[in-house]
Amino acid sequence: MKNILITGGAGFIGSHLVRLMVKKYPDYQIINLDALTYAGNLANLKEIEQYPNYKFEKADICDFPTIQSLFEKYQVDGVIHLAAESHVDRSIKDPFSFARTNVMGTLNMLQAAKLAWKGNYIGKVFYHVSTDEVYGALQSGMELFTEQTKYDPHSPYSASKASSDHFVRAYHDTYGLPVKISNCSNNYGSYQFPEKLIPLFINNIRHNKPLPVYGKGENVRDWLYVDDHARAIDLIFHQGKIGDTYNIGGFNEWKNIDLIKLLIKVTDRLLGRPEGTSDHLLTFVADRAGHDLRYAIDSTKLKNELGWMPSLQFQEGIEKTVKWYLDNQTWLDEVTSGEYQCYYEKMYGKM
Ligand code: NAD
Ligand code: TYD
Repeated sequence: MKNILITGGAGFIGSHLVRLMVKKYPDYQIINLDALTYAGNLANLKEIEQYPNYKFEKADICDFPTIQSLFEKYQVDGVIHLAAESHVDRSIKDPFSFARTNVMGTLNMLQAAKLAWKGNYIGKVFYHVSTDEVYGALQSGMELFTEQTKYDPHSPYSASKASSDHFVRAYHDTYGLPVKISNCSNNYGSYQFPEKLIPLFINNIRHNKPLPVYGKGENVRDWLYVDDHARAIDLIFHQGKIGDTYNIGGFNEWKNIDLIKLLIKVTDRLLGRPEGTSDHLLTFVADRAGHDLRYAIDSTKLKNELGWMPSLQFQEGIEKTVKWYLDNQTWLDEVTSGEYQCYYEKMYGKM
């Protein structure tokens, strides 16, 4: 039996990871620790909430005494840390909550692990899930982010994630904590909060609402299907080297405007509308402040060392994703209306 604490498991990527781990490892106890901020939704986990090896704890990673008591309660062997504030636009409006959760929260997790494990690190792992945005912006061309690329964050979000990565490395180098880090590119797929580009635009196309394209839509992102990210995390958690960093990406770069046109085409088709119906919804708006031009990841190390490859072609992944949001309108409606925030009380009663 291993006790694995996953933070942020009610969010987008976390819920995919929790589902994978709970099903794949019946002999592990998977503890999902999540504060259920606006981004946390227990409805994402309906499929596994009754599994005997799944536990949920509503807790804030910034609440150190509670985090310490949970390490004690579950005799945690491994941590996979995803809890974070994750939306760049929100970080521009409120950088302090990003410093609080992403920096101080991560520091709390590290310190709690260090105190709980007391220098006995055999069989222990602290895995920190980070982003490619810490590397800054690439110009258009052939260059990709590798594990050696210097950190150069520009948004309060990426600055807070960069800072948390540095603390994770510092705990390895200073106290010997057995850490691993991965930096992944933009994820897409089911259960993503509809403030992010892909679910927001699918929902808007469905409801004939404007599609706000920042600037000229020329920024480039490298998109990876979320289940491929979850598979990579599982692999790195079990087989990655202690102290190492792994880049995870899709080798799948898209200019925003091209991606948005594809989304319009696929969504109109799946809704049974004639091609071109929603083209008029495209609305060019003021650019995001400090908008990074291009992200693109080189995940050769992960491929060569651990044999990981993205499994889905983008066209197939986008079809599946659009279909999922169209088939799960109740999920989207509950998220946009705020109804999803009652799910905890329905499941676990009042706090
Ligand atoms: P998300 O915003 O969908 O989910 C974040 C989760 O963390 C939510 O369930 C939320 O309730 C929880 N949380 C937030 N603050 C908390 C706190 N103080 N205490 C406990 N729980 C808290 O995020 P996501 O997109 O699933 O991203 C997960 C992780 O992966 C983040 O660390 C993010 O930086 C990283 N990442 C995301 C992407 C992406 O494309 N979404 C890409 C690379 C890396
Ligand atoms: P987003 O999903 O917010 O992810 P990130 O900022 O972490 O890359 O945005 C993806 C890209 O889409 C990014 O270049 C910003 C752009 N974008 C828009 O043009 N309009 C929007 O309404 C949103 C949310 C994003």
